[in-house]
Amino acid sequence: MCGIIGCVTEDKFVASILYKSLKRLEYRGYDSAGMATIFNGILYVKKDQGKIDEVNERLNFNNMPGNIGIAHTRWATHGAPSKINAHPHTDCGNKLAVVHNGVIENFIELKKELLDLGHKFVSKTDTEIVAHLLEENFKNGENFFSAFINTVKRLSGSYALAIIYVGEPDKILVAKQDMPLLIGVGDECMFVASDASAFIDETNKAVILQNGEVAVITAKSYEIYRVKDGAKVTRNPILLNWTLEMAEKQGFPHYTLKEIFEQPLTIKSALRLQDTYADLLTEFLDRGEKIFLLAAGTSYNACLATSYMFSKLARLTAYPVIASEFIENYGHSIDIGTVILAVSQSGETADVLNALEFARLRAATILGITNVVGSTLTRISRAYLLQNAGPEIGVAATKTFTSQLVVLAQLALRLAKKRGKIAQYEMDEFRDRLYEIPDVVSQVLEEVKKPVQELAKKYLNSKFFLFLGRGISTATAFEGRLKIMELSYIPCIAYPAGESKHGPISVVESGVPAFFICPKDETRKAIIGNIEEMKARGAKAIIIGSKDDKELMEISDDYIGLPDIHELLSPIIYILPFQLLAYYLAIERGLDPDKPRNLAKSVTVL
Ligand code: M6R
Repeated sequence: MCGIIGCVTEDKFVASILYKSLKRLEYRGYDSAGMATIFNGILYVKKDQGKIDEVNERLNFNNMPGNIGIAHTRWATHGAPSKINAHPHTDCGNKLAVVHNGVIENFIELKKELLDLGHKFVSKTDTEIVAHLLEENFKNGENFFSAFINTVKRLSGSYALAIIYVGEPDKILVAKQDMPLLIGVGDECMFVASDASAFIDETNKAVILQNGEVAVITAKSYEIYRVKDGAKVTRNPILLNWTLEMAEKQGFPHYTLKEIFEQPLTIKSALRLQDTYADLLTEFLDRGEKIFLLAAGTSYNACLATSYMFSKLARLTAYPVIASEFIENYGHSIDIGTVILAVSQSGETADVLNALEFARLRAATILGITNVVGSTLTRISRAYLLQNAGPEIGVAATKTFTSQLVVLAQLALRLAKKRGKIAQYEMDEFRDRLYEIPDVVSQVLEEVKKPVQELAKKYLNSKFFLFLGRGISTATAFEGRLKIMELSYIPCIAYPAGESKHGPISVVESGVPAFFICPKDETRKAIIGNIEEMKARGAKAIIIGSKDDKELMEISDDYIGLPDIHELLSPIIYILPFQLLAYYLAIERGLDPDKPRNLAKSVTVL
């Protein structure tokens, strides 16, 4: 996730406006920043690695001339954070500048084609191909708009793009696919931005662009067109009654809630794996003699779920292990045949890095999955995959958990194909269900929001909660427990349901709320037995199960119904009510869900 902003006026210099707006978008990424303006037929570009203020101190954005400009704050996806990879990117002739949020999936083939045509690339980014594609189209005598449309038609992937060109210095051209983009309609200037916080103190009139649309923005007008057929779209601005703070959170009261509701989008991004690296990871995992899935906290819970996926789909045994225990537990058996897949949102968790260093010195192969390009994990891994979830501001991991699961599910599918241990139709079924997930997630979030709010009101004074699941739902139980403990501070116990009779059942007495995670899978029958055991001792059974599971509904005290889903994908859907419950319990209890006490987003101590 990056932040983009553009501004065009009739006669005012825009650099200071852009700078102020850029600062507002800093939460979307902050590894580098840049700005481009046009004045007297010359394109001015300043950019560098670092936070916006640091870069400004070195380069002074505010003195850039021109009444049109674009700017960018970066969260690296392709190419490490550096000056050359910072946006804006330009063409060979330095006539146009591009800022981009998203991932251009077919950039490797497009780059090859452009290199063959003689274009010179300076960065490692996917974005730079857009500048050169446009330049190529100009060579064919096209004007800015037609060159732009023909460029956009060649892109696959996700993008919010904004471009300025010295040949037509009165307009910003923008395009949107799967990344947010809004036009801000002011009296004296027009804006385009990733979100309304960038311009809300200048204007509260916004036009929300839709997927597959481009727009031409001048100081006094905006025109929207559909890419596929060139049809003009009429759309009036809406009025945003948002404060600046609300705009930064896109109208949500907290980042955590915003991030929970962002999941349909972040899951879509996570579905876009980089093939070459995914193949590499698959190859290493398949060849490994001992395989460990290593992580901490939420990332560990994703690893636990993955061990079920790898086993069931690919017949591959992979041991999920809590990073801080790895050296003591398995350190002495590491050798050259060991493959460790480390999962870490931040890529900086000290327990993870410490275990990896130990393993690396003993010749193990290190692989990574992380949300942060340029993190230590990306530097020490033989190969790594990115979650592409964008920065997560809320301390509790929500969107990054589901994006990890989506990346790992795709790896499981690749391993299944490579190892050929299950039937083709089973793989096809899994893949089809996986690609439906973003829609299922949006539907579930809307449907369960209200009932979960009610649950939070009902159980806000509970002394503790119990979480039970079987099979892969054990991972959901563990993650549900973690979310609720982190945000509500209510103590929680989570167990594989089959293990509950070996001890945890002794804590159950009249009125104890026990959550049961019961998707329609092979474990359903067995967990009904566990529910009855708990109810017989007075527990209140709060069941999360299939929408049409009458039997479960009847034995429950409270029931949250969810759509049917492939059993191995169920944690992605079944965790949603718990994320929301954790959030609403925090609100009901007067706590700050974004900054729970005693916790840090990235734990860099052992
Ligand atoms: O950045 P990482 O994924 O390595 O972080 C691991 C844990 O510190 C993290 O998941 C932590 O448990 C979160 N607070 C969970 O919400």
